[in-house]
Amino acid sequence: HNFVIIMAGGAGTRFWPFSRNNNPKQFHDVLGTGKTLLQQTVSRFEGVCPPENIYIVTSAEYYDLIKKQVPFLTDDQILLEPNRRNTAPCIAYACYKIAKKDPQARVVVAPSDHIILKEEIFREKILFALDAAGKEEILITLGIQPTRPDTGYGYIQFIPSESETKKVKTFTEKPQLEIAVKFLESGDFVWNAGIFVWNVQAILKAFAAYLPEVAEVFVAGELDYYTDQEKTFIDKAYMLCRNVSIDVGIMEKAENVYVVLSDFGWSDLGTWKSLYDISPKDAQQNATEGNIKLYNTGNCIIKTPKDKLVVVQGLDGYIIAENDGVLMICKIDEEQRVRDFVADAKQLG
Ligand code: GDD
Ligand code: MG
Repeated sequence: HNFVIIMAGGAGTRFWPFSRNNNPKQFHDVLGTGKTLLQQTVSRFEGVCPPENIYIVTSAEYYDLIKKQVPFLTDDQILLEPNRRNTAPCIAYACYKIAKKDPQARVVVAPSDHIILKEEIFREKILFALDAAGKEEILITLGIQPTRPDTGYGYIQFIPSESETKKVKTFTEKPQLEIAVKFLESGDFVWNAGIFVWNVQAILKAFAAYLPEVAEVFVAGELDYYTDQEKTFIDKAYMLCRNVSIDVGIMEKAENVYVVLSDFGWSDLGTWKSLYDISPKDAQQNATEGNIKLYNTGNCIIKTPKDKLVVVQGLDGYIIAENDGVLMICKIDEEQRVRDFVADAKQLG
């Protein structure tokens, strides 16, 4: 059977002050579609697996948000982590649990905070990858044609072939800028979309081989999954478990990695700039949401509460964002500083 694991425990710090620790971006209706990013992610998988095979892994503190946003989930489908340990433990927990239910499960792992414009093509690629993962013990990831040397992504070098599943030669998570520039020039690199497809046995073997200390922690819970003991076991397991991403822990090291090249209008909405890029803009190239009056202002992204009149004069290339008691005004070109602001303003949440 097919299963879908949605990772929804990240903090989304680069989207501050819109994304907050107590309410990160996956739980927001970022695009104003009436659905949060998490809700969009869930509905994107309609027809890929039955609703009872969707598992969401998140921080225990977001339980209420998940229940409210995806009411059809039972508590067995909401996997609660007592602390953040990055994506490898999150995936290990869900895959060991799923393997207990169905040792031959075919699994999709997806982030909860991306947008995908061409949902039909997305579904086709996913179904194709699930089919391929059912035939061989391989780890499949989806690759996106890169458009800039972004250092926020994983880069995949593949061996060119006629096959739709191309063998991965190298996987480099978040390279330095000079390296990303070289990757882009060379041409045979794609971005890792952070969406993975595999047979559950293939990933459990990879955990045993490349992250044995993580595998040991979760395999020990076999008896406890789907029982009242699960929470107690998991709370202990996370205390023992190291913090590591699936990309660094497994994808960079594994030999049996394949990539399916994909073009479905993907954006990981990682930053204000990426939201700006996909938003509709006025004649002066401003993307705005709120009650906003602009004079001699261009190339800005402005997102402010509807009940506040915001007047801007003479700005070019700025982010102006207000949410929940914080107003941030920052040059778009220097948005990598947002992480520093979050650290400095920690007391504000
Ligand atoms: N449950 C849980 N627990 N989820 C988590 C945790 C955690 O500790 N940490 C992150 N997540 C969730 C996030 O909410 C997001 O949906 C997803 O896992 C990926 O984590 P990010 O923190 O957003 O990763 P990234 O964007 O830096 O990098 C990954 O995605 C890129 C594409 O967007 C990597 O896979 C890169 O290689 C890839 O290019
Ligand atoms: Mg991300």
